[in-house]
Amino acid sequence: MTLSVQRPPRAIGAPLDRVDGPLKVTGAAKYAYEYPVAGITYVFPIQSTIAKGRVVSIDARAARALPGVVAVLSHENAPRLRPVDDPITRQRDPDLAVFQSDAVAYRGQVVAAVVAETPEIAQQAAGLVAVRYEEQPHDVELRANRGGLYRPENLLSLFETDTESGDVEAALAAAPVALDHTYTTPTEHHNPLEPHATVAVWGGDGDGASVTLYDANQGAYLIRDSVAQAFSLPPERVRVIAPYVGGAFGSKAFPHPHVILAAMASKVARRPAKLALTRQQMFALTGYRTPTIQRVRLGAERDGRLTAIAHDVVEQTATIKEFVEPTAIPTRMLYAAPNRHTSHRVARLDLPENSWMRAPGECPGMFALESAMDELAVAAGLDPIELRLRNEPAVDPESGRPFSSRGLVACVRDGAQRFGWQPRDPTPRARREGRWFLGTGVAASTYPAIQFPATAQVSVDRAGRFSVRIAASDIGTGAWTALTQIAADALEAPVERVQLEIGDSALPQAFVAGGSSGTASWGWAIVEAARNLRARLRDQYGGVVPPDGIEASGAFDVNPAAQRFSMHAFGAQFAAVRVNQDTGEVRVPRLLGVFAVGRVINAKTARSQLLGGMTMGLSMALHEASVLDPRFGDFVNHDFAEYHIATNADVGTVDVAWIDEDDPYVNPMGAKGIGEIGIVGTAAAIANAVYHATGVRVRDLPITLDKLLQ
Ligand code: MOS
Repeated sequence: MTLSVQRPPRAIGAPLDRVDGPLKVTGAAKYAYEYPVAGITYVFPIQSTIAKGRVVSIDARAARALPGVVAVLSHENAPRLRPVDDPITRQRDPDLAVFQSDAVAYRGQVVAAVVAETPEIAQQAAGLVAVRYEEQPHDVELRANRGGLYRPENLLSLFETDTESGDVEAALAAAPVALDHTYTTPTEHHNPLEPHATVAVWGGDGDGASVTLYDANQGAYLIRDSVAQAFSLPPERVRVIAPYVGGAFGSKAFPHPHVILAAMASKVARRPAKLALTRQQMFALTGYRTPTIQRVRLGAERDGRLTAIAHDVVEQTATIKEFVEPTAIPTRMLYAAPNRHTSHRVARLDLPENSWMRAPGECPGMFALESAMDELAVAAGLDPIELRLRNEPAVDPESGRPFSSRGLVACVRDGAQRFGWQPRDPTPRARREGRWFLGTGVAASTYPAIQFPATAQVSVDRAGRFSVRIAASDIGTGAWTALTQIAADALEAPVERVQLEIGDSALPQAFVAGGSSGTASWGWAIVEAARNLRARLRDQYGGVVPPDGIEASGAFDVNPAAQRFSMHAFGAQFAAVRVNQDTGEVRVPRLLGVFAVGRVINAKTARSQLLGGMTMGLSMALHEASVLDPRFGDFVNHDFAEYHIATNADVGTVDVAWIDEDDPYVNPMGAKGIGEIGIVGTAAAIANAVYHATGVRVRDLPITLDKLLQ
């Protein structure tokens, strides 16, 4: 057939229903744990009950005697693994050296595991394994004034630890309006609906050994490469499959010990092995967000123009692996001020590995900065919206680069209009309804526009059906649909004729669904592949698809504009709250987020992403906190009964809007990424509204009743 006779309507921007929707609602979409595999065994991990020390002995006799037990694994009998490097920092990842030593680095670390015929037998046998420990004193408490805080070399090999320009101390001392406050955020755990799960199936033996993993993850290649490294296999001998993933928020971006454990169990048992973590196990084994202690100092002229910004962060990382949350990075680029300072200091604690969690850095950092900006507005007698307009920088204040596009002012203005911000009496406790104080608050959002290398392959058959292949990952975001739309436009074909294949390391290379980079990176590769296919078709085949069809590849490597421009998405979040004057109960009847995120690929899935982020931000503001028991070095509220997450009843009206933004530099689609910005700033907007309602400034999340009853 001949292609491109008539250009179809543009798919990008349309509110297309999820192409994977019918499969999901009918249960036909398979998640990792659901793959049927013959001869399966089940793995149950045994977790350390001490926070630091070593395993002295493991008595597995009773467990092994239980009918149906296939193996009990520990450092005493596990196969030797090669060390695995973290793909971002290139540092060793000792958390993935499962059973490679007797050392215990945190409570909840996997020290042994049972492989059995049924999950019930595996769990029962795990309870029969007697582990004796030699315990050492542990250090698990983060305080700003504790000893041993250190200055990390950098932040995740991505950002400088500290930045300094001008003379902050002098500017603060001379500022007519100044503030100095400390904000804290607690430990938070990401809790995707689908628990982490891996099904491992080894094939071949000796030199022909290979392994297939059905594994819930955010990017098949990273899992593949880590497993290959651990088991000394060429990467192409490891295949990782996950076309559907039930949420992740960063917790499935990089492999955690259970992936290695499942692969090891299958290898040792010489049978396929399944492992799904329980919700409780996830609290030690799949990462979390560090608590933060953030001192923010602002100095300003009487008209609100900032003269100095200082943001000093104290947070934690694990002894087993360094992960430094880049908490102060938004402060480096959000507002103009001639004198600037940011720093990160870290305590290395005997706790599980903290890691990537939705908007790492921006999420906790913007709670502090945007709370402080609200406090500055109060101190300067300015409307908080006007304060932000007055501090809009002409270029990125620390890098000096121009912004590829910067929509903060547009979002703030548009949001104020939609929200009905004016007229607003800034006086706290000025408005009430019965026993409820009413308040409104605003905060800015920001998240960088990032792209990672990717390759895509596109083919067309004689009937004009296109197939698009890339190892992208849809963790519930809508990537299946958005990429189909991007491909359709790039191929000048209707979406019905485009069939996507993703979620498999056998497909062309792609980086994780993380850093809000997925659509931008994968989409770019797809656009390149489509362009190559169309050129081939035109130049070699005169526009007529040959009987066997044709295919072409395309890749995106580096965005040349990334060196010239500072590229970020922006937003403004508005909150209306009611606070009960007798109980301190906070309700959030209304949230509005207005975002500048470049071109929106799918209006429906985009709205869902932003709305989801804002809901998670509301949850952060009012509910979420992992409570550490320092005696054991463990989180005590490790389930949904006690780790509170916002439910439907906690969420009022959430309005999501975006402004038209044309950014030709971020990628050919002009899309900035929307997975994370929705959570950034929400908590500050709510805390600011709570202050407006009550006159109580809560600088310590979450905003619980006790903090408001004074
Ligand atoms: Mo997200 S925390 O970048 O996977």
